[in-house]
Amino acid sequence: MTAPFVARTATSAPAPGTHALLTERVHGESLAAPFYVSDDFFDLDLDEIFSKSWLFVATEAEISEPGDYVTIAFGSRSVIVARDDHGRVRAHHNVCRHRGARLLTEPNGSTGTIVCSYHSWTYGMDGRLEFADAQAPGFDKSCYSLRSVHVRTIAGLVFICLADEPPNDIDEVAGIVEPYLAPHRLAEAKVAKQTDLVENGNWKLAMENNRECYHCGGHPELLNVFFPTWGYSSTDAIPSRLAPVFDRYRRATAAQIEIWDRRGLPYPRIEQLDTRPTGFHIEREALDLAGESFTLDGTAACGRLLTDIPEAQLGRLSMHLQPNMWLHVTSDHALLFSVIPVAADKTLVRTTWLVHRDAEEGVDYDLDHLTGMWETTNRQDADLVALAHQGISSPAYVPGPYGPSEFQVEAFINWYVTTLRDRLGVPSSHVTDAASA
Ligand code: FES
Ligand SMILES: [Fe+2]
Repeated sequence: MTAPFVARTATSAPAPGTHALLTERVHGESLAAPFYVSDDFFDLDLDEIFSKSWLFVATEAEISEPGDYVTIAFGSRSVIVARDDHGRVRAHHNVCRHRGARLLTEPNGSTGTIVCSYHSWTYGMDGRLEFADAQAPGFDKSCYSLRSVHVRTIAGLVFICLADEPPNDIDEVAGIVEPYLAPHRLAEAKVAKQTDLVENGNWKLAMENNRECYHCGGHPELLNVFFPTWGYSSTDAIPSRLAPVFDRYRRATAAQIEIWDRRGLPYPRIEQLDTRPTGFHIEREALDLAGESFTLDGTAACGRLLTDIPEAQLGRLSMHLQPNMWLHVTSDHALLFSVIPVAADKTLVRTTWLVHRDAEEGVDYDLDHLTGMWETTNRQDADLVALAHQGISSPAYVPGPYGPSEFQVEAFINWYVTTLRDRLGVPSSHVTDAASA
């Protein structure tokens, strides 16, 4: 007897037990293993998180000219993000309207039109069908534009959402973060380098790892300039080993605030990571040593600063956005990270370095010097994520507690669980707290 063919649809039903695991999630603890290792949960994440949230996918600098495009793929989806002939940023499903062939297969490029390899249907960068050979009389090209995807740019950052009705707080979030980002003029910058690192762990572990500095002892290079005080508040018990660095951090912050005030740069921390659909965090922080950039001595790596503000010591502007992004901006460059799930145990972490568009490699900056600290840090993080995934894959794994400095990990997981519950219609009436568990 032939086994029945079971089609996996674009939005599969959650696996049995999903609702119970969501209902039983304990606040303040890591998730149960299936959330990280199960293929069913991976599909659920693609359907309910990555297909319905605003995702950071590119910078405008990557598509600075009409015809420039990038493609972003996760699961069976692929999206073209392009600049059209009028200079507008567009996003389309990468699926031909004839018989469905994938259109653009490169991760990025530049083209005058989008031509399907199969029967040569040809689309403008705005998605309109311009050419379809040998059609019947009366064929109406205007009915076969590429299916569009919601796209939103914020201060040079490009976000897409595949849902018919995206989370409607993106304008509000943009209104809050744009005053922080706009002075750095990222939309006018150029890409100095982009790296794709595939980490051997679930995408949530890559995000969790970014959301705490409890593990920063594993980043000796980064710690030359990055204060490992991050994540501790003034009311927390500070580990005695961090006492000297806390003193230095307080002095550096006071000096930095004087500069930010003088330059009119907003700096207060805004923390809305799990209190809205498009959860985010933004703040300015001091950097150690020269306080200018992510280099071993903290001095700027690029002689041409990103903006006209004649001030190299601006510390770092940092922003986190759920579910797949974080960034750091210093006076001389910007560093943007996007996370794209590949499989339950594989995650693409894309890092993009931006510099002033007129900065010249070899003249204004040495590329290895500019990127070295974070390339090293990324490799260290990838190793930690892989170790976490290996351990969680063991039957011996049970969820463990987050410490006070891991509050952003809790915020990320809380946002994730709450979002899944909302989108799946799971009641949260039996939410358990770690303290009472
Ligand atoms: S499938 Fe694209 S032209 Fe036929
Ligand atoms: Fe790290």
